[in-house]
Amino acid sequence: MGRTFYYFREVRSTNVVARVLAESGAAGGTIVVSEAQTAGRGRMGRQWMCPPGKGILMSMLLRPNIGLSSVPLLSLLGSVAVCETIRKVSGCTASIKWPNDILINGKKVCGILAESKSCQGVPEYVIMGIGLNVNLDRDDLPADCRDSSTSLKLEAGRKISRLALLQQLITRWEKHYLEFVKGGYAYVRQQWLQHNLILGRGVNIRLCGETISGVAVNISDRGGLLVRLPDGSVKEFLADDVTIGSNRFNFA
Ligand code: BTN
Repeated sequence: MGRTFYYFREVRSTNVVARVLAESGAAGGTIVVSEAQTAGRGRMGRQWMCPPGKGILMSMLLRPNIGLSSVPLLSLLGSVAVCETIRKVSGCTASIKWPNDILINGKKVCGILAESKSCQGVPEYVIMGIGLNVNLDRDDLPADCRDSSTSLKLEAGRKISRLALLQQLITRWEKHYLEFVKGGYAYVRQQWLQHNLILGRGVNIRLCGETISGVAVNISDRGGLLVRLPDGSVKEFLADDVTIGSNRFNFA
């Protein structure tokens, strides 16, 4: 991981650069980092904004030998590596809101966008993009996110070394990734459970304009969220289809 490492001052999106590299045959483990993005992308078509030099904006190119349905497990595992990294380097306790938003004190500090290309049901490559708010001050956060987002500096009360975070993240990710290749879903679930803040809680899920309420009970072997509905049935939701709005996050 990171033996081939690209560092940019500014790109449109590190995920886009990593995809171009993947298409031209770059090896699994290639990492792209940039100080700034002009068109950073988030999940569900959203933007990812971060002032230059204040965050970690990175994409890892993976060429895993797994089935397509296991791809979402990679981003769940990525969020585990991020939580551990945050704890180790900043001392803050971070938790995962399914699928892979990382929160500190209820506010989002990191997001993961995994994008993949497959051929005949087999992933050719996966790009795991990680955006971590490190040394942002409150004014650096987009105005409409100031109540729901945060940075490590704001939470820890001091500047945090981005280099230390990056080194730790790459090391931790590599360790988990190798274990995942051996242990699959069981390994991801066991790791993810240690950091999740959603299981056992009431959730409101937005799906195609409809809001569905229930209690989150487990994650499935394809990284879906299993929710017990009021009629007692258990339904699986996949990350591509749903959002759990933090303002509707109901810990009933
Ligand atoms: C989310 O919506 O929570 C996911 C955000 C992912 C942002 C990162 S920043 C580095 C990489 N490049 C992108 O364009 N997006 C991801």
